[in-house]
Amino acid sequence: MTVVIGEGLTRVDAEAKVRGTATYAAEHRIDGLAHALIVPSRIARGRIEQIDIAAAQRVPGVIAVLTHESAPHLNGEITGRPGLDKKLLLLNSAEIVHDRQPVALIVAETLAAAHEGAAAIDVRYAIESPLATIDDPRATESLPPQTAHGESPENVRGDAAAARDASDVIFSATYTTPVENHNPIEPHATIARWDDGTLTIYDATQGVFETRRKLAGVFGIPAEQVHVISPYVGGGFGNKGSVWEHQALAALAARETGRPVKLVLPRDQMFSNTGHRPYTTQTITFGARADGTLTSLEHDIIGDTSMYDVFIESSGEYTAMAYAVPNAIVRHRYARINVGTPTFMRAPGEATGSYVIESALDELAVTLDLDPIELRLRNYAETDPDKDKPFSTKYLRECYARGAERFGWDRRDPRPRSMRDGRLLIGLGMAGGSYPSQIFNASASVTMNAAGDVIVRSGTQEIGQGSYTAIAQIAADELGIDPSRVRMELGDTAFPRAMNSGGSTTIASVGSAVALACRDLKRQLAARTGAPAGDLTAHADFEEPDKRKGYSCNSFAAQFAEVAVDPDFGTVRVRRMYGVFDVGRVINARLARSQFIGAMTMGIGMALLEQTFLDPRTARVMNANLADYKLPVNTDVGEIEAEALGYPDEIANEIGTKPIGEIGICGAAAAIANAVYHATGKRVRDLPITPAKLR
Ligand code: MOS
Repeated sequence: MTVVIGEGLTRVDAEAKVRGTATYAAEHRIDGLAHALIVPSRIARGRIEQIDIAAAQRVPGVIAVLTHESAPHLNGEITGRPGLDKKLLLLNSAEIVHDRQPVALIVAETLAAAHEGAAAIDVRYAIESPLATIDDPRATESLPPQTAHGESPENVRGDAAAARDASDVIFSATYTTPVENHNPIEPHATIARWDDGTLTIYDATQGVFETRRKLAGVFGIPAEQVHVISPYVGGGFGNKGSVWEHQALAALAARETGRPVKLVLPRDQMFSNTGHRPYTTQTITFGARADGTLTSLEHDIIGDTSMYDVFIESSGEYTAMAYAVPNAIVRHRYARINVGTPTFMRAPGEATGSYVIESALDELAVTLDLDPIELRLRNYAETDPDKDKPFSTKYLRECYARGAERFGWDRRDPRPRSMRDGRLLIGLGMAGGSYPSQIFNASASVTMNAAGDVIVRSGTQEIGQGSYTAIAQIAADELGIDPSRVRMELGDTAFPRAMNSGGSTTIASVGSAVALACRDLKRQLAARTGAPAGDLTAHADFEEPDKRKGYSCNSFAAQFAEVAVDPDFGTVRVRRMYGVFDVGRVINARLARSQFIGAMTMGIGMALLEQTFLDPRTARVMNANLADYKLPVNTDVGEIEAEALGYPDEIANEIGTKPIGEIGICGAAAAIANAVYHATGKRVRDLPITPAKLR
């Protein structure tokens, strides 16, 4: 009996957020709190020759100053999870390898005293010439052992080169995507406290159990001695998925001073010390028959990584599975430059990879004089050509058709520069996208009291996507009760174990565990005789079900965009976007829509605005603030609408869902870039499409 699934219930934490009573990491009230600040390096490459902390120590209120000369050794080399585990630079060395690398840690009675102390620290550097771009001849390209998703960096089927040489048409082009930074409104923040060797961490994190695992390793203590609490997180987009230096240094500050310590990262340190979406240069080559049938596909990707760690943006994983091309080679390489280590950023790989292949297909459609949707239909993958497995469900054809109808694709005159509104050039573009469904192991407990009220617990996260609401709905649905009788508790390692809220996995994984626990509870209720005696509790562990293993499970997207381009100034306005998504069963239509339009808005940023600038001489981030790093704001976003088809995927998991959080950015930038070409006749192959590139 479905009672609430699919309904657009408002989020249960809405009022707490609006009233300011939702407690974020930095807001937990702890007695005796001291304040820590990381003093960042002012160079990107070289050595600390001398660091003078005497003046800082004399600042009233300063409690402690730690540098590489005084900080106790911590283990920054914990590895274990590909991509997720970052090597940490924990004041263990005088060597500087990236901008704003921590060079000192200051602890003070007040934040003001910490700032004053930080300003009084005098560092003398021996500066070396940094590598600021992968185009630097010193930046050599290497094949990584694996991509960020743990996949092979090279992916081959058939003989792409031979098929390309035998094809009627060859299309080849190189595209670039810039360094981008996640900019959640809530900064990274940690409060750390030690009690008898047990570490309690209030953290802004996408994974309380991962934070526990990592910090236990850094401090060499059993995981059970680390308690992580994170009831609310103000956005993450991937950069709160890994543990970075600041969590470890907050805990170190607390240990060294014997005080609970709060450390909030200043915004500028979030541009270099908590990951970025790497710069990529991507060359794609298609071989095709004259009718548009693709015969070969070659995709070469080079991305940046840091001098001390490897993270690869897996831009080619979407390429490999997107279309029914018999011959393909996809290769990921990296080049080391003087930056902090890159990380996952919303649809890591799928966002940048879909920009490239969906732009290239648009170019091929122009070459062959084919409608872009028709070209995609001629190459529709009925099965996953990369994994060589059937799709669990795939309704992408319906996404194209529905989107074309709702968007008004038939009004598009295919000739570039043919559509106008007064002096403005109008362009319509489209693109496809997909995002893989993954399952992370997840556990949950469900407790019902004698009155029939239910508490659901799992150590998962609310990063803004609506976990509190949607997971409670799943429980209410399984138990056949009103969702107001269910309370979800999360964000605490005291609860049953769950993995990161990343990879769009939370509802599929935690939601399935909750569904299983509820089914167990129902069995207990049915078996019980007589009046309710007390609390009933059920616990469930969910892992990837066997039924999935023979299938490729993915969400799919068809994205449509209309732009208006000023021919004199080159300014682009996104007037409309329409996205149609095949995401399985929708648990909460309101929250799903908000994920879609949020990610599509990020696609506007990716297409037109977002770009982190490194000074080519110093490799320092030049726009490490929210004024100079351009993000889409209201005025940049026109009418943006999204819908989900809503067909359940019974193979994907216990509740029929597919990923929602990241699919909205897949294909979004390409749809906009294709619309810009249609409006102007000018193909910009390096994002973002700024006015200067269109003049
Ligand atoms: Mo998201 S980039 O999978 O945290």
